[in-house]
Amino acid sequence: MAEIGKIAVIGTGTMGRGIVQWAAEGGATVLAFDEREGAAAGAKTFISDMLQRAVSRGRMAEADRDAALGRIVVAERMEDIADADLVVEAIIEDLDAKRDLFRRLDGIVGENTILVSNTSSLSVTACASACRDPGRVAGLHFFNPVPLMKVVEVISGERTRPEVIDALLAFVARTKHAPVVCSDTPGFIVNHAGRGLGTEGLRIIQEGVATFADVDRVMRQCAGFPMGPFELLDLTGLDVSAKVLREIYDAYFQDPRYKPTPLVYRRVEAGLFGRKVGEGFYRYQDGSKVEPPEAEVPQRVPARFFLEGGEEALAARLREGGLTPVDDAADADVVVLCPFGDDATTAALAGNYQPEKVVAVDALLPACLESGGRATLMATLVTPKETVDIVHAALAAAGLRVTRIADSPGFIAQRVLANIVNTACEIAQQRIATPQDIETGVSRGLGYPQGPLAIGDTIGPRRILDILERLQAITGDPRYRPSLWLRRRANLGLSLKTAE
Ligand SMILES: NC(=O)c1ccc[n+]([C@@H]2O[C@H](COP(=O)([O-])OP(=O)(O)OC[C@H]3O[C@@H](n4cnc5c(N)ncnc54)[C@H](O)[C@@H]3O)[C@@H](O)[C@H]2O)c1
Repeated sequence: MAEIGKIAVIGTGTMGRGIVQWAAEGGATVLAFDEREGAAAGAKTFISDMLQRAVSRGRMAEADRDAALGRIVVAERMEDIADADLVVEAIIEDLDAKRDLFRRLDGIVGENTILVSNTSSLSVTACASACRDPGRVAGLHFFNPVPLMKVVEVISGERTRPEVIDALLAFVARTKHAPVVCSDTPGFIVNHAGRGLGTEGLRIIQEGVATFADVDRVMRQCAGFPMGPFELLDLTGLDVSAKVLREIYDAYFQDPRYKPTPLVYRRVEAGLFGRKVGEGFYRYQDGSKVEPPEAEVPQRVPARFFLEGGEEALAARLREGGLTPVDDAADADVVVLCPFGDDATTAALAGNYQPEKVVAVDALLPACLESGGRATLMATLVTPKETVDIVHAALAAAGLRVTRIADSPGFIAQRVLANIVNTACEIAQQRIATPQDIETGVSRGLGYPQGPLAIGDTIGPRRILDILERLQAITGDPRYRPSLWLRRRANLGLSLKTAE
């Protein structure tokens, strides 16, 4: 197949104009067309302003700006794009409109022209079937803002020819964006992988385990994510996310792994869409998020603690906080447990401890138990508040921030991270994408501190498997069933990136 040199972009709204800029900067000649009069010319002016800004900040040479702008041609009529090697459509997200467009393009462009859709949620295969030759149709899914989000999903429809995918990969590789290949499945890689964070965060608050702000603080300050699930929902807009949550759940025939929670839909009805309307989960004042206050740190009291297991960092923090270790739980005022996947109640009973004395601390991520980290505490229903206060005050005195939650198998970080890893494993298991492309897609598309399979490898596949098995056993909820990809690699002691 000939190298792609000239591309056309149909629809120059938010995404289309970004795609035009990306392709022109990458060295291609770009024909820009929009059915709305003046829209394509307006997009070129917008891009000119963007490139000028890059020049002013010293990020682009004037000559490169001029060359990129010189490569953008505004097409007045759709017929003017006839000699493009590749056509990218970025029109409204409506299957009939996209199929109608593909049918028209079929009659305009040459037989070797590749046609692609930037759809987020429609089937590329369904768009392609409007063409006489569906083999030349694929998906190129970009992220907003296109010039900054340096990853593109290259989607192979049911009938897409392999050489079409090869030509697209070669074209994207000439730009600053990384191409990742995936099959035509709901959410592709990135929006599918993103379910782990959002749906589990929602479930935690639906169950009354923690507040949305607690979940976000733990995911940001403990797990190192750029944003917690509720900050992300507020940024994306709950009106948009609620639709995607339901679409992916339905598209996978109500697989409990993707099940949303009713509270999302009540909030949409209430118009609490997020940042763009000034209130979502958070309130926004002058565009800035108002952080809900945290629980007060209780007074320190001298007490004796018994710590099960060898969590040295935690023992050190408790001692620094003024507590005295004892070797026998019977002599302790507080029994500190560090369960993986169990709630405090199950862990207390399994260890034959008096539930009244038990406080559980999440020890999944070592950095959370270092000074400046954030510890998560939970206790049994019969543990007095004053007993939890002892641990809270000691950890705060040792320089930790503390999140107190209701008793829950897997605290916050264990639940959310295990779900993120499990979802990525299932994407690999279903051969939607290779492990490497899952990692690239998610770390670039969602900004996670590591790819999801690497997160699993760092924590340990065996531990992730244990957490999910305990979650499934205690809750009885099949949403936590471990992916076979995870189970096999955990049992064989292999990296989650091991391909088959
Ligand atoms: N906005 C995002 O974050 C995002 C991210 C990835 C993918 N997408 C997908 O990209 C596509 C475009 O989204 P957007 O946010 O840029 O929308 P948008 O509304 O900003 O832009 C759509 C543009 O297409 C034009 N248009 C509509 N029908 C047309 C037609 N038949 N022929 C020519 N032009 C036509 C409109 O005039 C408009 O300028 C959608 O399929 C969307 O799902 C959006």
